[in-house]
Amino acid sequence: MATPLIAPSILAADFGWLKQECEMVNKSKADWFHLDIMDGVFVPNLSFGTPVVKAIAKEAKKPLDIHLMIIDPDRYLDLFLDLEPLVLTVHYEACTHLHRTINYISSRGVYAGVALNPHTKVSLLEDIITEIDLVCLMSVNPGFGGQKFIESTYQKVQQTKSLTAKYGSSTLIEIDGGVTDKNAGKLLKSGADVLVAGSHVFSSSDPQKTILDLKNS
Ligand code: DX5
Ligand code: ZN
Repeated sequence: MATPLIAPSILAADFGWLKQECEMVNKSKADWFHLDIMDGVFVPNLSFGTPVVKAIAKEAKKPLDIHLMIIDPDRYLDLFLDLEPLVLTVHYEACTHLHRTINYISSRGVYAGVALNPHTKVSLLEDIITEIDLVCLMSVNPGFGGQKFIESTYQKVQQTKSLTAKYGSSTLIEIDGGVTDKNAGKLLKSGADVLVAGSHVFSSSDPQKTILDLKNS
């Protein structure tokens, strides 16, 4: 089991102290900044847009992992790609021409991620798994931080691991939603590579230690 990558979700940060929250992530053992973009249509909530992402990018000394929870994300890909994230993730359920979308992201030199809602089968990715750099398994229904982890995620991690092994693909497996110290170890044993954590990190009394503990799970 390799050391996991930890991606604190800025959605759970205190936006009045965004600069300080970014500095905390910079100083911590976290690997990426996870940024959740919500359109109020694909998910029943709004979050923030490119002005805020730009402000975070200015402070961040670590790569950006942008998670688009928006319908027909092709309309906004360039806007986010121009900010040069490491990863840009779209939802399987939000793309009519997923193959075209992920190939466009890759053509811009950015890792292409595909997120699956809790009800979406991993097997639907079989025909494109070798072209995806990251599969983001939603372990809550997307739209809000602080929700309860869905237990069937462990099985989906194993299914994704089998799929990548079958095709010899080096696709990373990321888990997003309700990740805490209670489920991190089992997720990593099941085959997860990247753990996104929002409220568990930002509502803790010592976020840097919480990040370190996740890293050592
Ligand atoms: C949920 C978002 C998550 C969220 C995770 O729709 O995609 O990234 O911020 O927050 P927690 O860790 O609090 O569940
Ligand atoms: Zn997310």
